[in-house]
Amino acid sequence: MESDVSSQEIPQKEIIGELEYSTFRIGAFRAALELHLWEKIATGQDTASKIADHEGWDLAGSRLVLDAMCALKLLSKTGDRYALVPESAFYLVPGKTTYIGDMLLYEYRWDENGRLAETIRSGKRPLQDSATSPEMVPLWIADYSRRWAYPETYFEREKNLWQSLGIQARAGLRVLDIACGPAPRSMELARQHPGVRLTWVDWEGVLQNAVKVARNLGIGEQVTLVPGDLWSMDFGAGLFHVAYLGDVTHFFSPEENTGLFRKVYAALAPGGVIVINSVARREIEGEVWDGLWLYAATASGGLYDFGEYKALLESAGFTNVIDINNGPIRAEKI
Ligand SMILES: C[S@@+](CC[C@H](N)C(=O)[O-])C[C@H]1O[C@@H](n2cnc3c(N)ncnc32)[C@H](O)[C@@H]1O
Repeated sequence: MESDVSSQEIPQKEIIGELEYSTFRIGAFRAALELHLWEKIATGQDTASKIADHEGWDLAGSRLVLDAMCALKLLSKTGDRYALVPESAFYLVPGKTTYIGDMLLYEYRWDENGRLAETIRSGKRPLQDSATSPEMVPLWIADYSRRWAYPETYFEREKNLWQSLGIQARAGLRVLDIACGPAPRSMELARQHPGVRLTWVDWEGVLQNAVKVARNLGIGEQVTLVPGDLWSMDFGAGLFHVAYLGDVTHFFSPEENTGLFRKVYAALAPGGVIVINSVARREIEGEVWDGLWLYAATASGGLYDFGEYKALLESAGFTNVIDINNGPIRAEKI
């Protein structure tokens, strides 16, 4: 066959070759998660033959996948014995509060084995169950468990958020944290002043876990729980000084967000502030992957840039919309 480029012009295959290897790496990691490999090693089945014998698995395959996890630095090997490394001991042993394996397996389903192309052709979304459905609650809880186990580490990160937003903890400050999850940001505010009052909205299972952490930290009395679907609830009128929406607005369409911002506008007292804090912003690094994931995992969500959030907030009645260093967005009800 005749070539259409000369031999000097043959481009390098590095990028494509790297992707090919990524497929193998992910495939092996996914299999190891499904096989609960790290759990086997944690319980003393520390050689390929012990595991294969005990589980009735194929010996050659067991050894290959164990070696692959060593190559990924998620196991170590001395002679024929495998051992956990700190990362796998912390994140990959099922049953530990810090285990994230189920959430990772859920993420790996994001393209549903190649159906992404089909969705792009048809425009039919979502590929997965919607990331905002109550069926996600066990996965959210598993995902948050390490934050709940080590809340102090997360507070450390949030320390400057409220300062950068110009929001000061004070007696009587009422904060509505919508889709609060583990609620580290609003908890941090409550820790700063015993007079701060938090209202948390999320699914029941999430709230029950989050409030246990608040109680352990001695701020349980400052928290009111409002469990349920944020779409079917009324946040009240003129009640709050701050409304916080962390990492949730990207799950919703522009129209849904406008509806949500209107409800928040009504719930805020005059002078109240809404804060939107989403890592999935079009201006922020990693945007392509977040955008594609949101496309696959939600019915109508997506990446929005500051200009789009500003327009949505203004159409809901907010003014003085400010972007704080390409991070949280703050707007006021005057
Ligand atoms: C990505 S997490 C963000 C958690 C937290 N705000 C943060 O910034 O870390 C999204 C949260 O939204 C909650 N959520 C999503 N859709 C919801 C709905 N319709 N009603 C109530 N909560 C919802 C989920 O349960 C989950 O805890």
